[in-house]
Amino acid sequence: MDTISNQSYSNQTREGYPVIHLGYADVVLLGRWNGLSNALYSLHKNSSFWVQYDKEDALVESYLLLNGIVEIEYDGKRHILEVGETIDASHYAHIISFYGKTEAEILIKMSTESFETRFFETQILQEEADAIESVDGYTYMHCNRIKDYSIEVWKHMELPPESLSTLRWGAYFHDVGKRVVPLEILNKPGKLTAEEWGIMKSHTIEGAKIMREHTVEWLADTAFIVEQHHERHDGKGYPYGLKGDEIALESAIVSVVDAFDAMTTDRVYKKALSRQEAMEELKNGKGTQFNPLVVDAFIEVLEKKQSN
Ligand SMILES: [Fe+2]
Repeated sequence: MDTISNQSYSNQTREGYPVIHLGYADVVLLGRWNGLSNALYSLHKNSSFWVQYDKEDALVESYLLLNGIVEIEYDGKRHILEVGETIDASHYAHIISFYGKTEAEILIKMSTESFETRFFETQILQEEADAIESVDGYTYMHCNRIKDYSIEVWKHMELPPESLSTLRWGAYFHDVGKRVVPLEILNKPGKLTAEEWGIMKSHTIEGAKIMREHTVEWLADTAFIVEQHHERHDGKGYPYGLKGDEIALESAIVSVVDAFDAMTTDRVYKKALSRQEAMEELKNGKGTQFNPLVVDAFIEVLEKKQSN
């Protein structure tokens, strides 16, 4: 098997192999053989990822569980994967979700071209996410939770799976525009002045611009999510004051899950609410701040998660 030279790619390597630290998983690209790439996917406990097979994109795509406990969900049904069992994605027409019940290792085999394009693009995006985190104190886990919650809501609402990838990265980078907001405004404990608030609000438009001009060109497709994530259902949000159906559903989803995550996380200026209190707040905001269908779907996702 050829090992992959890391010279032309990134500084992020593990023992000479290219690696991506995704926060919820680490992916190590082990090498390629006969047109197939092999990667070791270390999924963290209580984390998840999903797979949507695309025959135009990959001929071969399989996932072999090496160790740990992983549950998979397909068409609403869940079962525990056996160690040594392989999931051949080409046999599945819809999304397959993998949930790590413990730390787990999965060997991925995939057609080289499609896997490595995704791998190295993801590596670039992850490095960028790390850079944002180091600037404004946001954690990986915040961005990851927003992404995970958004995806769960999307699946629960039975929306088209083709848009999942756009939602994933739009949700993940929803606050990328905060890069242009000065730190003293971002982390100010007290009330912002009118001028500071104007700068803070510009993170939506600035973020969309970053996405549209990104070297990973398809990220431009996610710009609208970033741009609209502070719009409100009643039209009183920013930057454009869009209302109801004028707001993309993807953005309406990010808005709800972002609010929930903000409420349930300690911030510099306030203590966290309990999950129950935050769910009540979401219900109170139905039809005013939030899209009511999205709130209902998200509450159902949270309740389902609690009972699992
Ligand atoms: Fe934001």
